Amino acid sequence: MPILQWLDRDKHVKAAEGVPYRLLQADDAHSAGDEASPNMLIQGDNLEALKALLPYYAGRVKCIYIDPPYNTKSAFKQYDDNLEHSQWLAMMFPRLQMLRELLAESGAIFIQLDDNEVHYLKVIMDEIFGRSNFVSTLIWRKKSGGGQDSQYMATEHEYILCYKKGNFQLLFDEKGIEEADFNKSLHGKKCKFMKLEKWGASAHKEDRPTLHYSIPDPNNNPYFPKAPDGRDGRWRVKPEKLDEKHKTWVEKDGRFIPYEVIYYDEVKDKVKTVKERTILYDLATTTDATKEIVAIFGSKAFDTPKPERLIEKILSLATEPDDIVLDSFLGSGTTAAVAHKMGRRWIGIEMGDHAVTHCAPRLKKVIEGEQGGISEAFEWQGGGGFRFYKLGSTVFDTEGRINPDIRFAHLAAHIWFSETHTALHKKATKPLLGVHNGTAYYLLYNGILGDKRPDGGNVLTGKVLAELAAHDGPKVIYGEACRLGPARLKALGITFKQTPYDVKAR
Ligand SMILES: C[S@@+](CC[C@H](N)C(=O)[O-])C[C@H]1O[C@@H](n2cnc3c(N)ncnc32)[C@H](O)[C@@H]1O
Repeated sequence: MPILQWLDRDKHVKAAEGVPYRLLQADDAHSAGDEASPNMLIQGDNLEALKALLPYYAGRVKCIYIDPPYNTKSAFKQYDDNLEHSQWLAMMFPRLQMLRELLAESGAIFIQLDDNEVHYLKVIMDEIFGRSNFVSTLIWRKKSGGGQDSQYMATEHEYILCYKKGNFQLLFDEKGIEEADFNKSLHGKKCKFMKLEKWGASAHKEDRPTLHYSIPDPNNNPYFPKAPDGRDGRWRVKPEKLDEKHKTWVEKDGRFIPYEVIYYDEVKDKVKTVKERTILYDLATTTDATKEIVAIFGSKAFDTPKPERLIEKILSLATEPDDIVLDSFLGSGTTAAVAHKMGRRWIGIEMGDHAVTHCAPRLKKVIEGEQGGISEAFEWQGGGGFRFYKLGSTVFDTEGRINPDIRFAHLAAHIWFSETHTALHKKATKPLLGVHNGTAYYLLYNGILGDKRPDGGNVLTGKVLAELAAHDGPKVIYGEACRLGPARLKALGITFKQTPYDVKAR
């Protein structure tokens, strides 16, 4: 497959591996609402924040929306949008790799950009997500007037590339059958008539000659279909289907016309799915987004916000209530605000000071029942909460030693992720972390078996083994040392791994 080349590419595509795992440090002063809320607002460079999330959220995020710097060569109030072209690619590549790991198999990622970088992004996305996982490019019409913003033409639109990871299903708008459309009555039943002669595109005899044939009309004369322009037409269906569908004749201008009859009672419980179109034409514009910011902050406090309705459209295509939504270039906090109002769980990452000055206050207002953007449509009344986090200490030092501040549950999440490449769903409180593909994983650390002396219970002995939950199958046990001989380990189906040397999560 052709790939994009740039200076130092080989180094950049491996950058994610070299990023240390960090803990996320909760900061109560900037958190708001329900303390048990799973929603996370993280301040920090997303390269490190995404890595910190991996052991806990790999494969769990249903929808990622990002609106990264477009590389417009502008200096905005809150951030600089001016990277050398290959530096922009170097910035995006490892972040997209980690975003892919965080995405659920049934999830989708949406990335918004303009002409500056979108075509280069398409090529690196094909490489990272796979060409066959490309879903669509949405075109968002961002303004309604003209403008002089480009040298040659007034640019009216931006792009949103959508990729899936595995078995993503786009959630289409489902429309119920409209009773008002059934404005005829036959045999005392409400119904509507549908022409059997083809209309619209390819309605002529020459388009489908085999579908131009006659049926006897009520006077027993041969009836040939006509196109709307009066030329020889064709039927919508083959002869055998026509017999089945043909229910009535209607006389019009001295001519009988055959119709299919559809009874309301027979179809009223059906829903028809309406496919989404790729051009988001009349949704909301950058002007609407700025109005939303002014309503929240009292001034044009952020240069490049997106309107809430645009994000709502994306989240309604890809998520359902309680799904996890992630935006790692959070800006003024639009994605988190919209996800919150729509009842989705969310994680937002922003490295600038505006994580504190814009995102946190905006989301606090949402919790208090802020009424801008999509609030009315979702009958938003307030509620919920979020926790604010900063990047904390590294889990392993540069020598690979485990940071002594690391508690059992955190090391457990890291070891589980390094072994299974999935996230631990529950906070670990016991040595048996779980079973993956038939193998059970155990961790002896921090005196988890109740022995609070330093190193107590962290050594695999016969006595410790007897205290571990049984598993009928292969077992991997992490501990500081092992007193069981190789023959016994083999007989018991145990692979012993020594902390910290055998921990690959570094
Ligand atoms: C175009 S803005 C996003 C606007 C947002 N969609 C909104 O509606 O407000 C891009 C944001 O990404 C942030 N950003 C850029 N690089 C980042 C990084 N490495 N880690 C975290 N945030 C970053 C910038 O500070 C900026 O706020």
